[in-house]
Amino acid sequence: MNTLDVQKYGATEKKILIVDDYESERLLMVDTLTRAGYMQITQAENGFEAIGRFQGGGYDLVISDVMMPGMGGLELLKRIRKIDPITPVILITAHPETEVAVSAIKTGAVDFLPKPFKIEDLLFKVNIYLRERKILEEGPADRNIDFQEKLSELSRQSYIYDSIENSAGHNEEIFQKIVDLSLRVVDGSSCAILLVDREEGQFYPQIVKGEDEGVYRSVVIPQLRNLYEDVLTSGEAVMVHSDRHPLISPSVICAPLMIRNMNFGILVVRKKMNGSVFSDKDFHYIVSLTKRASLNLENKVLYESLYSSVVDTLKSLVASVQVRDHYTEEHSTRVMTLALRIGEKAGCSEEELECLKISAMLHDVGKIAIPDSILLKPDRLTFEEFTVIKTHPLIGENILKPISLFDRERKIIQHHHERWDGKGYPGGLSGKDIPFLSRILAVADSFDAMTNNRPYRNALSPEIALEELKKNRYTQFDGDVVDLFLPLFEKGNS
Ligand SMILES: [Fe+2]
Repeated sequence: MNTLDVQKYGATEKKILIVDDYESERLLMVDTLTRAGYMQITQAENGFEAIGRFQGGGYDLVISDVMMPGMGGLELLKRIRKIDPITPVILITAHPETEVAVSAIKTGAVDFLPKPFKIEDLLFKVNIYLRERKILEEGPADRNIDFQEKLSELSRQSYIYDSIENSAGHNEEIFQKIVDLSLRVVDGSSCAILLVDREEGQFYPQIVKGEDEGVYRSVVIPQLRNLYEDVLTSGEAVMVHSDRHPLISPSVICAPLMIRNMNFGILVVRKKMNGSVFSDKDFHYIVSLTKRASLNLENKVLYESLYSSVVDTLKSLVASVQVRDHYTEEHSTRVMTLALRIGEKAGCSEEELECLKISAMLHDVGKIAIPDSILLKPDRLTFEEFTVIKTHPLIGENILKPISLFDRERKIIQHHHERWDGKGYPGGLSGKDIPFLSRILAVADSFDAMTNNRPYRNALSPEIALEELKKNRYTQFDGDVVDLFLPLFEKGNS
């Protein structure tokens, strides 16, 4: 949601109270909310101060830390509820799943932000609750009865957001999750995500789930096609109740899926399990869900495109070293393959393997700063020249420093020449103080260097290189990593 959206529902007049004993946390929240257009923010250091301010009146939302000296967040929540049963209170807590959460929900906290939280999550929740509050205020006079129902609705919404937020992996998996959630949230009997091919004007089922899968797989009936096209063109969700066609009866909700304001598909959910028609609330859930999903997919796409463009830039840096030293890029690719094989045997997670892949590809990027006279020298290096070569892990680390996406990789690269016995460089780290992935990289790197021609010596055979690795278990290398590596080259494995 951008500032414009926020202004639409009068953010500038909303009064927010932020309660936290850490000034830096408070200021971070104030800064975020101010940038989003919220202008009336008050701060309090603890529950006592907060309650005093709250009694002053007129707050639309309270965000409070749970653990605070004096009066904590839970006691504050209780007292706020006595004064005012509907003002949304968001609690920030390190353990949202514990008993604290249960008693807070009973007392009427509308939501939690787990610590540490993402700024965009804070903003998202604030926007949602202030909107909900507006609806509440405009709603029926008996606000207290409605309040309980609203609470359960809000927690359901919150569940939707958190579930989508936690969907990782490929788009296919995210789509699957969206479909599952849609069915669960509105009790639908079938749900599908259809992607659109604008050139051909066709809808293709991407995910289909539920009792009438065939409906979405066969040719789209004209009534549904019109509905799909309306949703696509208008970008607005639609709910239709009709008994006229068995594929619509008794009701269908159809909502657009968007990335960067472009509709790329639609979500269709049909027929409530109990045979009744979808309610306005169901419609509202599906709209929230698809909006959130679109946002999540958009972030993912943005992240992936940013990520791959940064990787490409760094690869071209490695390639520029290769122009001078033909060894480097091919070496990097081979080291990557070897390192990944060790990583898989070591049971590394997907994330660790990804990190290992990038680190291996870029491990010698720092050689860009080593002069030709040293990098390409056909003879053995002098002590001084070797000192210069030894700077490349730190230079590599420095090149990656400005890119926060590569925080983990740069540590791995920095330490790929450390030795188990502490005699390596640049840190002189030893044993398990050396990052595990750096220890893997060291074995893969050394094996590949030994088995290929270098300006100053010819390649060793793989057998001799393996012997070298064995000889240096727990002196140069992590012996466990060597033990994982050796079987890769036993007969039939290489
Ligand atoms: Fe290196």
